[in-house]
Amino acid sequence: MSRYKIIQSYSIKDSWKYAEKGWGISLHRICSRTGSFPPSLAYYFIMKYSKPGDKVLDPFSGKGTAPLEACLNNRIGIGNDLAPEAYVLTKAKTRPVRYRDVLNWIESAKPKVIQRASNYSIDDVEEKVKVFYSKYTLRQILAVRDLINELEDEDLSNFLKALMLGILHGPSNIHLSIKSSHSFSMSPGYVKRYVKEYGFRKPRRDVLKCLKLKAERVFRDGIPALRGSAYMNDARNLPLEEEDVDLVITSPPYFNMQTYAWDNWLRLWFLGYNYKKVKEKLFQTNSIMKFKAFIKDCLKEFFRVLRWNRAAILVLGSVKLNGKIVNMAEEVGPIAEDIGFNVQALISDGIPKSNKYLWYLDGGQGIDKEVILILTKGEFKPYNIQIDWSNAKPTSIVKECMEAAAI
Ligand SMILES: C[S@@+](CC[C@H](N)C(=O)[O-])C[C@H]1O[C@@H](n2cnc3c(N)ncnc32)[C@H](O)[C@@H]1O
Repeated sequence: MSRYKIIQSYSIKDSWKYAEKGWGISLHRICSRTGSFPPSLAYYFIMKYSKPGDKVLDPFSGKGTAPLEACLNNRIGIGNDLAPEAYVLTKAKTRPVRYRDVLNWIESAKPKVIQRASNYSIDDVEEKVKVFYSKYTLRQILAVRDLINELEDEDLSNFLKALMLGILHGPSNIHLSIKSSHSFSMSPGYVKRYVKEYGFRKPRRDVLKCLKLKAERVFRDGIPALRGSAYMNDARNLPLEEEDVDLVITSPPYFNMQTYAWDNWLRLWFLGYNYKKVKEKLFQTNSIMKFKAFIKDCLKEFFRVLRWNRAAILVLGSVKLNGKIVNMAEEVGPIAEDIGFNVQALISDGIPKSNKYLWYLDGGQGIDKEVILILTKGEFKPYNIQIDWSNAKPTSIVKECMEAAAI
């Protein structure tokens, strides 16, 4: 029996579970990354737990979903993540550039890429990277990377990096690599084996052409009119003042679950990082004691930066530990209370809509799911807004005329 009030996400009439699959503007899809929550979930909590003008913080922002939804809805979105590729994606979403600036850069880079690529030697590139690319494509990737790094405009340079991360590997013609996953960087040993087995060829790609196609898709629905900010700090030590933010919405690294640095090793290579060094910095553990100690320090920091009478939403998992399902929200709730938060409710999420009969089961019956912990600092009642998913659109968006920008 839980000491907390448990709500099933499907029993909330307007919950994110009722949003269409793939809901959210195209900028969300600049690059996929494992372990992310859907834009509809971020939108739901931002609408109910903050108001226009508020500062919304995600201290483990991953690919930047929550800060982007905040900026799209007249809030100031702030994202933080210690993983370099997550920081690049969060920054691209909180500080996007114009479509036309990306196109102009691509045009200006064309002759330079041709000239530089022919002079590049790929002898120094690690073998495991070469598994993914033809020599022709790899030389261009190196040339494009250098040109992007030479840019003085930080936001443009960052946005181009984010676009490159989105095409670096994947299964389609827009991707630069041999057929592979687009959401995580695959193991080179595994790729080498299946390339041999199936006789796949490393494609010859025109990198700038792929980049242009990617940009066209990403900008299709527009960008937020408001700018936010992105940081690359440890979540236990945020570069923010006391009582600076109005809502925290986040999903901490899952206990025992994700290996973010390894999952992004090729993206980190492109950005000039060694995944092993990044791994040392990111939080990852198999020990429930260490997880609790980490989450305690994080919660103290969230409590410090959050204003009074505001909420913190934590998306946590139900994980298997020695064959037993551990509901992380039940574990984290008491730690949050010790720090001074109130536990308002716990939302159990993840049972597919089609499995209606499962809605009536209570938690912990072996069903893998997310558990959302709603904390408040002082008192806070969610705003009485009903979300109509058939009509839920961003309120602060600018759209360039794609044809005009393309000329
Ligand atoms: C569950 S993911 C968050 C995903 C995010 N909600 C999204 O939609 O993309 C947890 C994140 O914590 C980051 N992380 C791990 N250790 C960290 C630390 N000590 N400080 C800040 N971020 C950290 C990881 O890089 C990862 O992106």
